[in-house]
Amino acid sequence: MNKLVIEGGIKLNGEVKVSGFKNAALPIISASLLAADKCVIENIPMIKDVYILKEIMESMGADVQLSNDGVMTIDTKNVENCITPYELAKQLRGSYYLAGAALGRFHKGEVTYPGGCDIGTRPIDQHIKGFESLGAEVKINHGIINCKAKELKGSKIYLDLVSVGATINIMLASVLAEGQTIIENAAKEPHIVDTANFLNSMGANIRGAGTDVIRINGVEKLHGCTYSVIPDQIEAGTYMMAAVATGGDVVVSNVIPKHLEAVIAKLREMGAEITEYDNSVRVNASKELKSINVKTLPYPGFPTDLQQPIAVLLSITKGTSIITESVFEGRFKYVDELKRMGANIKVDGRTAVIKGIDKLSGAKITATDLRAGAAFVIAGLIADGITEIDNVEHIDRGYQSMETKMKNLGAKITRI
Ligand code: UD1
Repeated sequence: MNKLVIEGGIKLNGEVKVSGFKNAALPIISASLLAADKCVIENIPMIKDVYILKEIMESMGADVQLSNDGVMTIDTKNVENCITPYELAKQLRGSYYLAGAALGRFHKGEVTYPGGCDIGTRPIDQHIKGFESLGAEVKINHGIINCKAKELKGSKIYLDLVSVGATINIMLASVLAEGQTIIENAAKEPHIVDTANFLNSMGANIRGAGTDVIRINGVEKLHGCTYSVIPDQIEAGTYMMAAVATGGDVVVSNVIPKHLEAVIAKLREMGAEITEYDNSVRVNASKELKSINVKTLPYPGFPTDLQQPIAVLLSITKGTSIITESVFEGRFKYVDELKRMGANIKVDGRTAVIKGIDKLSGAKITATDLRAGAAFVIAGLIADGITEIDNVEHIDRGYQSMETKMKNLGAKITRI
C-alpha cells in the first residue's frame, strides 16, 4: 500500500503539462479490437487503468506495445474471441467497452461486469438495451456479461438517461452492423467525439458525435490507423483547482480550453483570474475567493468528476456554497474524510452544504475513490501541517505521475 505525505501551505507556481484523457483512451484502446489490423495510438496516459486494459487485451491474444512516451501499438489480428479475465476486468469501469467492441467484431463476448469507483449503483441497463436493440442476446450470469448475436442490424435507440458509457458502447457495437443506427439522447462529452473520430479514422461512418443524436452507418470492415488521444480535461481541472485553492499562479498546458468552459466559468465566478490561450490556460488566484453553487451535469455542464476537487476548494472559501450532485447518487462518500480535516460540510441526499472555514488541518485520511483521492491531495496542499493519504492506488488509476507534477509546481509531497 502506498501513501502520500503532504506538507501543506505552499502556493503552487509554474507549468504543468496535462496527459492524454483516460476516459477517451480506454474506449479507443478497446475500439482497436474492431479491426483485425494494427492501430497506433498516441498520447496514451501512463496510468494503472491503461496498464490493466493492456493486460486484458494481451490475455485475449492481442499484441500490445506501450512506449515510455505514451505510444501504444495494438495488433488484434490474432484475437479470435473476447473473454476478459475477472481479476483484471473488475478493477476498472472502462473494461465494459470490450463488450461493445467484441459484439461488433465477433458477434459474441464474455466480459466481466465492470468495476471502477464506488460512487453509486452504476447500472448498465442502457448498454444492454442498446445491444439488444441491435439484435444481440445479452445475459448476465455469475458476474459475466454474455453477449451474442447471429447478426447485428442498425436500429433507433433512445437512451432513457444521458450515459457516456452506453453511448460509446452502442457506437462500438453498431459500427459494423448492417444499416443505420441512431442513438437519441446521446451523451456529448469530448471523449464521445474522440472515440467517434478514432472509429472514423478506422473507416467507420459516424456523424453527429458531440450532439444528442448520433447516426452510425454500418460499414463492412474497419482497418488500422494512427490516432492521438485528446488531453484530459479532468486532470486539467484538478490542477486548476489546486492552483486556485493554494492561491497560486499556474499554467496548465496541453489542454483544449473549450472542454474546460464550465470549470473556467465556475472558477471565474469565485474570483480566480483565468487566461485562455490556444493550448493552455493560466490560473491566478491572488484575490479573496467567493462562495458559489455548483450543480454537476452531463457535458457541457460541470463534470461530476470534478465535484470532489471543487468541494475541497469551497471548504476553505468564505461563505456558504451548495453542491448538487445530479449524476451519481453516491458521490459524497468522501465527505466524512474531509470532515476529519475540519471541513464543515453537511450532506443531505444529493446536496452538500459547505460552510467555508479558514483552514483545513492535516490528518490521516483514506482515498475512497479516484477523484476523491485527487481532491484529498488538494486538501493536503492547503491544510495546516501534514496530511497522510492512504489507498493512493486509486489516484494511480487515473492520474499520470501526480506527485511528480505537483512537486514540479512546488508542492511538498512524498510517496512512501
Ligand atoms: C463515465 C466515466 C466517469 C464519469 C461519468 C460521467 C469512464 C470510464 N467513466 O462513467 O469518469 O464520472 O462517465 O461523466 O469513462 N446509468 C444508468 N444506466 C446505464 C448507464 C448509466 O442508469 O446503463 C446512470 C449511471 O448510474 C449514472 C448516469 O447514468 O447515474 C451517468 O452514467 P454514465 O455517463 O454512464 O457514466 P459511466 O460511463 O459509468
